[in-house]
Amino acid sequence: MSIYTLFPTISTSFIVISAILVAIGWRLAIRRRLDEHKKVMIAAAVAAIIFFIIYASRTILVGNTEWGGPDNLEKYYVFFLVFHIILATVAAVFGITTLVLGFREKFAKHRKWGRTTSVIWFFTAITGVAVYVLLYVMYPGGHTKPMIDAIFGL
Ligand code: HEM
Repeated sequence: MSIYTLFPTISTSFIVISAILVAIGWRLAIRRRLDEHKKVMIAAAVAAIIFFIIYASRTILVGNTEWGGPDNLEKYYVFFLVFHIILATVAAVFGITTLVLGFREKFAKHRKWGRTTSVIWFFTAITGVAVYVLLYVMYPGGHTKPMIDAIFGL
């Protein structure tokens, strides 16, 4: 596996792991196993942070990959990608809010936010995997240019 596909594979795996942990954590909350709920949700947040660190370092050091499939499918890919990026950004804001509400013991609000956060996070993971499959599995990825190169004109 090349460096161009290694990092996206690892980071996408962390989104999936995080979403699975959120599903487990939600189930624990419903069953009132709240100590375990807390631990599992913190683990889900750590997995999400690891995803973001890998994704951000790769974007800066290795670059983003252009669409490598047929031209007529590119608009669908871009639509999916933008939808995924918006979902991921909203999920991050909602996730931080849910965590803060949990730690401040504002549990009525936490419960409401937590449900929305979890659902948004599931869709983020599903669309993230779809973007990965479109970009690296179904079609060979296009040209990759590091942000650092773009900034410094290398
Ligand atoms: C981003 C991380 C988290 C998410 C997505 C999340 C999600 C949820 C969800 C969906 C529920 C409601 C379950 C239901 O009834 O359907 C819930 C309940 C709860 N969560 Fe979290 N949670 C997170 C982190 C935490 C943390 C860090 C704590 C503790 C500090 C915590 C403590 C609780 C408690 C005590 C409840 C029960 C609230 C009640 O029923 O009044 N959660 N959480």
